[in-house]
Amino acid sequence: MSLLHLDSSANRSDESVSRRLTALFASTWRAVHGPAGYRYRDLAADPVPPLDTAYCSLGRRVERDGLVPPAGVGDLVESLAEEREWGLTRPLITELLEADTVLIGAPMYNYSVSAALKAWIDRVSFPGAFTAPGTGDNALRDTKLVVISTRGGAYAPGTPQEACDFQIPYLRAYFNRQGVAADNMRFISAEMTMAGLAPHLASFRPLAASSLASARAEVTALASVQPVQPAIRATS
Ligand SMILES: Cc1cc2nc3c(=O)[nH]c(=O)nc-3n(C[C@H](O)[C@H](O)[C@H](O)COP(=O)(O)O)c2cc1C
Repeated sequence: MSLLHLDSSANRSDESVSRRLTALFASTWRAVHGPAGYRYRDLAADPVPPLDTAYCSLGRRVERDGLVPPAGVGDLVESLAEEREWGLTRPLITELLEADTVLIGAPMYNYSVSAALKAWIDRVSFPGAFTAPGTGDNALRDTKLVVISTRGGAYAPGTPQEACDFQIPYLRAYFNRQGVAADNMRFISAEMTMAGLAPHLASFRPLAASSLASARAEVTALASVQPVQPAIRATS
């Protein structure tokens, strides 16, 4: 079992609710599965560089050649700039493909995801990245996704700002388009995280507390799921 844990809040202090919740998921997961399959990437501390022309030219060549899987992309590199771009991209794709479960801490920034997370998304979405070699199947077909979203306000169904949520619907559409099955995605939200801070949101503090408590319970339950044991064969 392997877990890739990504954090993307610009706030790297203990105040970050998404970081606290992903850390809870990760520590619970490690207690069940052991530490060996755990990988961590902090997209704020170690930002993914923005794309440039060489990324696009290499990507366009791969598209033209009919979506070459990552193992074949190196053969299509034509310049030092493309080599550099591929060198920045391939390890992130490999890390993603090696994970059985991808855990993403995703704060809402201006109704959407943080620039740090978007930079990772843009880079791993290299043409053909998720094409399994040989079969041409989608390599994310069995990947499980857990997104822990935090928002200063409330965007749940029925709330006045529901239509402004370009965070969870965006991530759901993106990962679904890349091949992650709808049944393999879980979105856990802590809402009204600004209520404890902003005086004008003080009346929402009970709502914030119950949203956080529910998120913590959901995170703990989800991360505690025991691996399925292989059936023991009777020997004669
Ligand atoms: C740059 C920035 C933009 C934000 N935009 C929104 C927003 O559009 N809607 C919202 O409800 N909260 C917004 N917030 C509040 C955050 O979503 C909230 O503080 C959340 O808890 C941040 O995640 P973190 O606690 O993991 O850092 C914004 C915060 C920052 C720093």
